[in-house]
Amino acid sequence: MTSIPMTAPYPLDHTALVGWVQAVAQKTQPDAIVWCDGSQAEADLLMEKMQAAGMIRRLNPEKRPNSYLAWSDPSDVARVEDRTFVCTDTAQEAGPNNNWVAPDEMRATLAGLFAGCMRGRTMYVIPFSMGPLGSSISQIGVELSDSPYVVVNMRLMTRMGAAVMRQLGSNGGYVPCVHSVGAPLARGQQDVSWPCNPTKYIVHFPKTREIWSYGSGYGGNALLGKKCFALRIASTMGRNEAKDGGTGWLAEHMLILGVEAPWGRKFHVAAAFPSACGKTNFAMLIPPQGLDESGWKITTIGDDIAWIKPDSQGRLRAINPEAGYFGVAPGTNEKTNKNCMASLTQDVIFTNVALTDDGDVWWEGMTPTPPAHCLDWQGKDWTPEAAKAEGRRAAHANARFTVAATRNPVLDPAWDDPQGVVIDAFIFGGRRSTTVPLVTEARNWQEGVYMAATMGSETTAAAAGQQGVVRRDPFAMLPFCGYNMAEYFGHWLAFGEKLLAQGVSLPKIFCVNWFRTDAQGRFVWPGFGENARVLKWMLQRIEGKAAGQGHVLGISPRYQDLDWTGLSFSVKDFEAISAVDAAAWHDEFKLHDELFDRLAHGLPGVLPEIKAQLAATLEQQRQAA
Ligand code: OXD
Ligand code: MN
Repeated sequence: MTSIPMTAPYPLDHTALVGWVQAVAQKTQPDAIVWCDGSQAEADLLMEKMQAAGMIRRLNPEKRPNSYLAWSDPSDVARVEDRTFVCTDTAQEAGPNNNWVAPDEMRATLAGLFAGCMRGRTMYVIPFSMGPLGSSISQIGVELSDSPYVVVNMRLMTRMGAAVMRQLGSNGGYVPCVHSVGAPLARGQQDVSWPCNPTKYIVHFPKTREIWSYGSGYGGNALLGKKCFALRIASTMGRNEAKDGGTGWLAEHMLILGVEAPWGRKFHVAAAFPSACGKTNFAMLIPPQGLDESGWKITTIGDDIAWIKPDSQGRLRAINPEAGYFGVAPGTNEKTNKNCMASLTQDVIFTNVALTDDGDVWWEGMTPTPPAHCLDWQGKDWTPEAAKAEGRRAAHANARFTVAATRNPVLDPAWDDPQGVVIDAFIFGGRRSTTVPLVTEARNWQEGVYMAATMGSETTAAAAGQQGVVRRDPFAMLPFCGYNMAEYFGHWLAFGEKLLAQGVSLPKIFCVNWFRTDAQGRFVWPGFGENARVLKWMLQRIEGKAAGQGHVLGISPRYQDLDWTGLSFSVKDFEAISAVDAAAWHDEFKLHDELFDRLAHGLPGVLPEIKAQLAATLEQQRQAA
């Protein structure tokens, strides 16, 4: 056994953890092992090293202090869902929503891939907490990675370093995560600016809660606390606690919003949208001028993930397990998300945006006029004229920023509260150019689960693959649910039933769609800050203070039920985005049937029953019309 030099800035009291780190190092053969402390000095040193190696560049400190830009390999730009695996004992446990390989077979594949895969590189040990340190809802993970880019991103995205090691003590539990870019270096071999491997595996073993990621250095493929742990592994943990007889908990692809209404009450809302459907914008929403004379205060608790557990009184308490934002840059600007732009003024890592001639960043939609010249996300000269002629983007459509939550000017004071916040409403929304109305309130928990389960959305650049096609994305969790989706529906239903049986009043469930288009394909609803009008209606509904109209799918506002102060939006346009078109819904229900057929194994019977009721009501209305 060769001994690999190891440095740690704190005592290594956790024998089992040290043993695991050494075992992985024996397998992967890095040149050195470095335990991370999460300090600024450590991050600065890594940034310097990466700059020297050409992996990252420092932006003009006068324009963007302490900020950096990385350009990835063009083959490594998004989450790779077709290379993501959930290795449960049986294929059924993983469900048709996951790629499954038998655990032994996958372990054999990984053994081959990881053997010597860190040669010539440093293996970083990254202790991190998902959620506020010490919260009973939080969990700890340790990621081993041969990517310094991963270390500096994990430092912004999680609570990372020495404090987590202290929390772990000598025998604390943790989720083991191993990540390699899969690009070992021979002695003296020159590194490339974005090492990765065309072969990619993002693998989860839910039984042992292990995560193994190979070949990619990008986002959710490599920052293993995010989608892999906080959603796929955590969703399994929450469901398993229910299987063991408890109520269990929920790990969801949801932002969490604090809303102080002009009438004085503070609400908390959790909202699920598929990737790149405006979650970060909604999480930092600024209500339009005029709406109750701006007596609204909207604050962010989280922009992507929520962990939700009932407290001793059965109220649903949510934390944001993350500590930063890994948001989509294109389309973000002073108008669409002023607070986000304010979050990005310093201490940011940008990935795959363009570099301007004065050393700053640019992306499509950032300013109304593009720079006359810049370097695109692949380092090539870019001018608006050439771009038009070639149809070449300056920033990749899935270009990202990584920034600590603490840079957000509208961060909620309770964002780091170990107790979490009490959730008053769930919102589910997809990107649908047709069919789904602006907002619908579910009549009860079961119908809300039905709405969320049958959600569809047009695909975006956040995942590799074809864009703009409608796919069913139940609960916006299709790529993130770590077990059989049919069972996941069952978990939501049982979770609600158990709490209702205890006399708990559950959050209301709403379904929204900001994305309906007209015949020319233009968005009809202005979206962004104007979504506050819809939010106001939902919050008033919680308090029984707003009227609505029942229809086949649930309850929606009539034109006069929304506050239109300061916005000119016609009744005709409102009707166009609120209409429940019987023919479109007839077809939509067929797609719900197809989804239920695909998820037939273990599907709770109540869902097809609800579908049958809704479809029958629709049919009656069609015939009466
Ligand atoms: C994300 C995603 O990065 O959903 O948050 O893809
Ligand atoms: Mn997401």
